[in-house]
Amino acid sequence: MEQVVRTSLEGDIGLIVLDNPPVNAAGHGLRAGLVAALDRLVAEPAVKVIALYGAGRSFIAGADIREFGKPPRDPWLPEVCNRIEDCAKPVVAVLHGAALGGGLEVAIAAHARVAIRGVALGFPEVTLGVLPGAGGTQRGPRLAGVAAALDLITTGRRIGAEEALALGLVDRVAEGDPRTVALAAARDVLDGRLTARRTRDIHIDPDREALETTKQTLLHTQAHLFSPHACVEAVAAATLPLPEGLAKERQLFQACIDSPQRAGLIHAFFAERAVAKIPEAAATPRPVTRIGVVGAGTMGAGITTACLLASEPVVLIDSAPEALERGAAAVARNLDGAVSRGKMTPAARGAIRLTTATTLDALAGCDLVIEAVFEEMDVKTATLRGIETICPGAVIATNTSYLDLNVMAETLADPRNFLGLHFFSPAHVMRLVEVVVADATAPEVVATGFALAKRLKKIAVRSGVCDGFIGNRIMSAYRRAADLMALDGTPIDAIDAAVRGYGFAMGPFEMGDLAGLDIGWAARKRQAATRDPATRDHGALADRLCEAGWLGRKTGCGWYDHSGDTPVPNPALPGLLREIQQAERITPHILDADEIITRYETAMIAEAARVVEEGIARYPIDIDAVFLFGYGFPRWKGGPMHRADEIGAAALVARIARLAQDDPKGGWQVPAILHCMAREGGSFAGLNIGR
Ligand code: 3HC
Repeated sequence: MEQVVRTSLEGDIGLIVLDNPPVNAAGHGLRAGLVAALDRLVAEPAVKVIALYGAGRSFIAGADIREFGKPPRDPWLPEVCNRIEDCAKPVVAVLHGAALGGGLEVAIAAHARVAIRGVALGFPEVTLGVLPGAGGTQRGPRLAGVAAALDLITTGRRIGAEEALALGLVDRVAEGDPRTVALAAARDVLDGRLTARRTRDIHIDPDREALETTKQTLLHTQAHLFSPHACVEAVAAATLPLPEGLAKERQLFQACIDSPQRAGLIHAFFAERAVAKIPEAAATPRPVTRIGVVGAGTMGAGITTACLLASEPVVLIDSAPEALERGAAAVARNLDGAVSRGKMTPAARGAIRLTTATTLDALAGCDLVIEAVFEEMDVKTATLRGIETICPGAVIATNTSYLDLNVMAETLADPRNFLGLHFFSPAHVMRLVEVVVADATAPEVVATGFALAKRLKKIAVRSGVCDGFIGNRIMSAYRRAADLMALDGTPIDAIDAAVRGYGFAMGPFEMGDLAGLDIGWAARKRQAATRDPATRDHGALADRLCEAGWLGRKTGCGWYDHSGDTPVPNPALPGLLREIQQAERITPHILDADEIITRYETAMIAEAARVVEEGIARYPIDIDAVFLFGYGFPRWKGGPMHRADEIGAAALVARIARLAQDDPKGGWQVPAILHCMAREGGSFAGLNIGR
């Protein structure tokens, strides 16, 4: 405890330094240490003012979210904040790095605040499914007003020192190291140049209009979430005397803590960070100063844009001059869009370093080259060989979605330099990159892939080699379940609506039309020879659409007819369906939304379990990250493996057994890992331990 919070005296100034690496989370040690430090300095007669600051990279990043859901340990953060506010000697807080959530709550319970330029302040609790539960909903409005506090608390947005000053959340902006600033601020409090006051004493005007507007907006935009609405209710209590408002805040905070959404959102927070912990983490990434991209189609242009947005120099190659021109124009459009959305400054736009060429020679000098050419093994291997000849020793990546990397690697002179970097379309927007590790890939090449993804501000997830890697392989399984439901008579728009109701932005048929039905058609043709004859041909209906030239939005029609203002199911579907149902002796039956979701989710979880079982994903949490950041899985549900644990292995085994009985050729099989968990106990979360 002594190490986490230390005190020292500088004349009549008592200093408290918080030192709980890496981010000064307000865990039990910090909370108890802070109270003990206050007691010590209050009892010290020489001390006239107390200054509080953080060692390391931040003031306080918030409550320790690893403690959420565990039995609480005294003192709680709200009590710590009350102790600070009640302190008989003035307390000034100096904020640097991050003063977020509970960190900002500690600060606004102090009697004065100085923000060091560069600090990020905010109440991100809502993004974790909770609300500021240590007085933030009560003291925040007292300092910044109800409307501004509502904005910060319901959006979780982070602000800088200047905005915090303008809002009244801090009293001064300073430069310098936290200790020096703390000493100066404490001296100014003593000399009356910095006013110390208790936030609880500030009068607050009710703002019914702001409350009602925010409430209505959230009902419209975030009806499915729990905590944003609780945030509004808590802020509404800020006009009460502080103890009453705090009691209301505590009750609402506890309700958030108990919500499964909180567990899902916090799992998602850790998933984002866990995926970086790879076995190759100790390897030194190769330096990358010039990136090559081969293939100027949608993926190549998107990858090029992603690199340019991160100020990386790129050489973009396409052997077809028209394709190169189209690709370069798409990159320019993407960058202009980024500027207009404020994602890139006009100066950075002007400084991009892009070279285009129609021959691979222009790649000379590149230390990492990504091929994004046509998804055809021979085309890919010829390109890879060409790249290796021009750039010997460079890291060579394929952006293939499905093809076997080990087969590709055989054609290279040095397969240790080769890996998969599977971007998701649109590649300059989607955050996920699967880093696919082939048998011969060298550890430092894997580390280079992760380092590049980080520079591009993407989330990299390590995957082994299999058809579709982690994401597309699992997607094929639940797509298949959706296709079978449609073949059996459930309307495609009912399936899409149920999947949207679950929290995805789009249903599988809407997504199919957006991506183009020819992608799945090609995959089915490729897999036809190896298809298990004991399972049903789920693609029969989609094949008929493709044969008729209905390939989705790009042809104006696919599963849906897109010619009108709103898409309607393709009017030809009932006729096509009847033919297939008659030929395959299917008795039509329509499933309700619950059963649709049961099948969709169970197919996803079962395949995900197999992906873990086979070691394609090293940890279940990697799969959750893939789905959260690449497939639009609802963040508040945590990911398919997190959901599997919520449902429980025994219930999943029973579900799959029931579905196998309902549809014996539907491909429903219990993965061995689920059988084992159901029999012996255990969970996917348990397999993440050590991550
Ligand atoms: N609790 C526990 N661990 C935390 C944490 C927290 N609040 N914040 C960060 N960490 C951990 C991360 O998991 C990571 O651990 P790892 O090294 O084992 O993977 C480590 O600290 C470093 O974090 P980052 O990799 O995210 O470091 P960055 O420098 O990129 O970012 C940060 C730093 C901006 C502070 C970022 O970590 C962050 O946004 N943290 C969460 C802030 C937050 O949401 N605070 C509110 C918490 S809820 C609350 O306060 C409730 C209160 O109202 C009662």
